[in-house]
Amino acid sequence: MSFIEIRDLMKIYQTKETNVRVPALRGIELDVNEGEFISIIGPSGSGKTTLLLVLAGMTTPSAGQIRIGDVRLDQFSEEDRSMYRRHKVGTLWQIPNRNLIWEISILENVEIPMRLLGIPREERVKRAHELLSEVSLDHRIHHKPSQLSGGEVQRAGLACALAHQPYLLLADEPTGELDSKTAGELLRYFQHLNETHGITAIMVTHDFDVAKSTDKLIQIVDGRISGFSRTQDLKTIRDVHKVYLDSYGNIQLPRYLLETLEVQKEVLVEEKDEGILLSQEKEKPKKTKNKKT
Ligand SMILES: Nc1ncnc2c1ncn2[C@@H]1O[C@H](COP(=O)(O)OP(=O)(O)O)[C@@H](O)[C@H]1O
Ligand SMILES: [Mg+2]
Repeated sequence: MSFIEIRDLMKIYQTKETNVRVPALRGIELDVNEGEFISIIGPSGSGKTTLLLVLAGMTTPSAGQIRIGDVRLDQFSEEDRSMYRRHKVGTLWQIPNRNLIWEISILENVEIPMRLLGIPREERVKRAHELLSEVSLDHRIHHKPSQLSGGEVQRAGLACALAHQPYLLLADEPTGELDSKTAGELLRYFQHLNETHGITAIMVTHDFDVAKSTDKLIQIVDGRISGFSRTQDLKTIRDVHKVYLDSYGNIQLPRYLLETLEVQKEVLVEEKDEGILLSQEKEKPKKTKNKKT
C-alpha cells in the first residue's frame, strides 16, 4: 500500500468579493511510496503550490480523498489539521522569510518547531546542533539568517523543516532563488536527508535539471497529472513518455505532442494487436458551392 494515496482531488478557489471560481486542481490521482523523493514539475499556474498546500494541511480540498499513512486529510477537522501541521509535516518555501525568523539565530530557529511540541530545552538544543551539522552549518549556529548566503539560508530552512521529525517533507521551489551550482548543493543535502532520515519528500519545481535529481518525476498541467517517470534514464523533459490514465479512462497527452499534432476535439480509439491506437480522422475536403448563374 502506498504511503500517500490521492484520488479525485479537486480544489476550487472561490473569492467572496467577486464570486469567481478558479479551478486549481481538477481530479488529481497520485501514489507516493514511503521514503520516496519525488518532484512535481509543471508550468506556472498549473496547481503545484495548491497541491502542496493541501498536502501540508494549509488549505482544505474541495473534493476527493487524500490518505497519508493511516490518516484521511479530507476528513480532518480544523483542530486535526493544526495538529497534523505541527507534528507530521515539514515545509520549505522558496522565499526564505517564510521558513525562518530573521531576528534570531538559526539555532533558535531550529528549536522553534520543537518548542511547540514541548520538547525539553536540552533535547532541543542537541537535535538542533545535529541537524545544523547535517547541513554543514555547525560553525554558523549563532548567526542570524541575514548573516548567511542564499544557499546557507535554505539549508538552515531545511534543518528547521525537519526539526520536529515529520514524516513528510514538502518543498515549493526551494531552489528558485539560487544559482544552479548552489541549487545543486541544496539538492544533495535534500537527497542525503531523504536517505538518512527515510523521510518521504515531495519537491515542486519548474526546473527540469532540479527535478532530474529525484527518484520520480510527476508532471502536472492545468490541475491534472499529465505524466510521470522514474528519473534515472531521463535526458530531457520529452523523455517522459509515460502518461497517466485515471480510473475514469481519462488520459492526458504531453503538451509537446499536442503542439506538434494538429489536435482536434475528437480522436479515434482502436484496439490493435500491438496496443491501442489513437488517430485522427482526415479532414474531408470542403465542397465548393457552384454559384448559380
Ligand atoms: N488564493 C487563491 N485564490 C484564487 N485563485 C488562486 C489562489 N491561489 C492560486 N490560485 C489560482 O489557482 C491556479 C493554480 O495556482 P498555483 O497552485 O499557485 O499554481 P503553480 O504553483 O503551479 O504556479 C492559478 O490559476 C492561480 O491563479
Ligand atoms: Mg507555485
